[in-house]
Amino acid sequence: MDKIEISGGIPLNGNITISGAKNATLPLIAATILTDEPVTLNNVPNLSDVHTLLKLLQLLGAEVDFDPSNHTLTICSKSIQNFEAPYDLVRKMRASVLVLGPLLARFKKARVSLPGGCAIGVRPVDFHITGLRNLGANINIDEGYINASCSHNLIGSEIVFPKVSVTGTENIIMAATLAEGQTKIINAAIEPEIVDLIEMLNSMGSEISYSNSREIIIKGKTSLHGTNHEIISDRIELGTYILTAGTVDESELILTGKNIAKLTEDTIGLYHSIGMQIDFIDTNTIHVKRSSNLLHGIQIETEPFPGFPTDLQAQLMVAMCKAGSESYIKETIWENRFMHVPELLRMGADITLIGNTAHIKPIKNFKNAPVIATDLRASFSLVMAGLSANGITTINRVYHIDRGYENVELKLSKCNAKIKRIK
Ligand code: EPZ
Repeated sequence: MDKIEISGGIPLNGNITISGAKNATLPLIAATILTDEPVTLNNVPNLSDVHTLLKLLQLLGAEVDFDPSNHTLTICSKSIQNFEAPYDLVRKMRASVLVLGPLLARFKKARVSLPGGCAIGVRPVDFHITGLRNLGANINIDEGYINASCSHNLIGSEIVFPKVSVTGTENIIMAATLAEGQTKIINAAIEPEIVDLIEMLNSMGSEISYSNSREIIIKGKTSLHGTNHEIISDRIELGTYILTAGTVDESELILTGKNIAKLTEDTIGLYHSIGMQIDFIDTNTIHVKRSSNLLHGIQIETEPFPGFPTDLQAQLMVAMCKAGSESYIKETIWENRFMHVPELLRMGADITLIGNTAHIKPIKNFKNAPVIATDLRASFSLVMAGLSANGITTINRVYHIDRGYENVELKLSKCNAKIKRIK
C-alpha cells in the first residue's frame, strides 16, 4: 500500500489549480444513463472514485472514453444491457447507488447492492428507496440488494425528504426526468453540485427548476438527448487548500479554477471569522493567507449547504489546532466523523471529544509522527498536520486521499512542500 512522506515545517508558497468537483462528477456520470446519445464531460478530475464509477458503467454496457490528461470523458449508454450494480463495486464507493434512479427511469429495472456502511457512518439509503416508491417503482430488498422495477413509466409525484440528502435528492431528480408528469421535491439538498446536475440535465432536454427554499420541480420528458458539459470546480478541494494555507505558518497560496471566486464566496464568512485573508484576483483566481500572525478559534457546527460543509470539518479542525484561541466544532451530519482525532492526538493536538462536539485547544505546532488515514477527508487533515510539523511525517493508506484529491503530491510540491509518495 502506498504511503506519503512529508518533511514539514516549510512555508507553502505557489499556485494550485483546483480540479473539477468529485461530488458533481459522480452524479453527472450516472446521469449519462438517461440518454442513448453520447455525453461529453469536461474538467473531469482524475480520481479513483471516478474510475470506480466508470468501471460500473462499463459493466452495465456503456461505452466509456476517458482521457485523464485532458480531463475529458465521453460516455454513450446506448448499448446498456446489464442492470446490476454488484456489491464488490458498490461497497468500494457508496455513490454507485446513483445508478439506481437513472436505470429505473430509462430501463424500468435495476438491481443495486445496498452500499453498506463506511468509515464515517451507517450511510442508509432509505430516503432514496421511499422516493422511488413514491414515483411508482416496486422495490424490495433481498440478499443485500435493492431490486427495483416498474411495469410502466415512473409517475411524477410530490416527494418530501425527512432530512436533507445530497445523493438522495440526485437519485430522485434523475429518476423524475423520464417520469410521466411533474415531480416536486420538498426539503431537497441544494448544494452547488446539485445545481450543476440540474444544469446538465436541462441541457439534455429536461425541464427542472429549483428555489433556495429547497423545492425542486421536474417536468418529466419521454427522452433526453446528449450534451457537452463542463463540471464545476471542487469547492471542498478549494476549501481544503485555503485551510492548508492557514495551517502551515507563513504560507500563502494562489488558487485557480473555473469560477472559484463564486465558490469561495459561499463560505467566505467562515474564512474571515477564523482570520484568513482572501483576495479575489479575478473570477477564477484567489490569493489566500492568514490575515494576522495566528488564526482565531471558532464555535461552529456542520450543516447542509449553505451551512458549513461536513466535508471540511476535519480540515477546519487541523487549522484550529494552530489558532490563538479555543474552538468547538460540532458534527451534525455523520455519526462517526472524528476518526482523524486519535491520529491528530498522536501528532500533539489537544482535542477533547464530548459526544459529537470536538473541543480544540491551541498548540504551538504539531509533532511529526507515522499516522494512518481512515477516510477521505480525514486523510487530508493528516497531510495538513504533516506539512505544519517539523520533521518527517508518514501517512499510511493514502488510497483514501486518491479518492478525492487529484495529484496531491504534485500540487503541493509546486508550492515548496517536501512531499513524496512511497510505493
Ligand atoms: C454526500 O453524501 C457526499 N457524497 C458526502 O461527501 C457528504 O459528506 C454528504 O453528501 C453530506 O454533505 C457525494 O456527494 C458523493 P446524505 P450522501 O445523503 O449523499 C442521512 C466526501 O467526503 N441519510 O446527504 O451519502 C445520512 O445518514 C463525501 O466527498 C439517511 O438517513 O449524504 C446523513 O446523516 C463523504 N437516509 C444525512 O442523511 C438516506 O437515505 C446526509 O446524508 C440518505 C441519507
